[in-house]
Amino acid sequence: GVTLNIQPDTGQLAQAAADHIAAQIRAKPDLSILVATGNTPMPAYAELARRVAAGELDCSRVTAVQLDEYLGVSDDDPRSLWGWMVRSFVEPLGIARTVRLENPAQFEAALQQLGGLDLAILGLGPNGHLGFNEPPSPPDAPTRTLEITPESLVSNAAYWGELAVPTGAITAGMDVILAACQTLLLVGGAHKRDILHAAVEGPETPEVPASFLRRTTLTVIADRVAWA
Ligand code: GLP
Repeated sequence: GVTLNIQPDTGQLAQAAADHIAAQIRAKPDLSILVATGNTPMPAYAELARRVAAGELDCSRVTAVQLDEYLGVSDDDPRSLWGWMVRSFVEPLGIARTVRLENPAQFEAALQQLGGLDLAILGLGPNGHLGFNEPPSPPDAPTRTLEITPESLVSNAAYWGELAVPTGAITAGMDVILAACQTLLLVGGAHKRDILHAAVEGPETPEVPASFLRRTTLTVIADRVAWA
């Protein structure tokens, strides 16, 4: 089932997302969370960090699990998505346990040991991708390496200024995402409106990987311009 939470602006989107994530952590302090990078969740992560610093929230028992990564970037490369997750989420929230996405076999074994994912925090690719599950991705698409689509190379270029976007990636599979107890999809901006409606109201199709999220317990938090 889908719960739609439409907020007036991006600031209130971040507050609502932080409220949602904090409530899950309070209910289960050892929550395991699949963590998206990208621009949309960053203000929500900053708000969670503020609450941790203020002593309002304790994330010390949370496990943060990496969603996706470029191929061929080292840890100290500014484009490392692992580095982005550590700087924006793991360190500022005081999280001690992490699962890194290095290869499919290692990742699946680590998830099994963890007992699965409680929550997946996701952004929505402009082409409907989740992580780097590029269209077409069926619901059983496994954790794998792949070539990034031309459309996603363009959208990802916004993150890195002058630096080129790596052309290969590894992503947690659709199977991993759809097995999470809860999923949270964060969507902001008028440019996401058509793909958000396709994801929430269109047919379930590998051409819009996010359309399969309706099979999970899904909460969508979007700003008004991404929906109306
Ligand atoms: C990127 C990433 C995703 C991210 C999505 C949306 O390509 N691979 O993990 O969630 O696109 O990003 P943004 O929130 O910046 O729009």
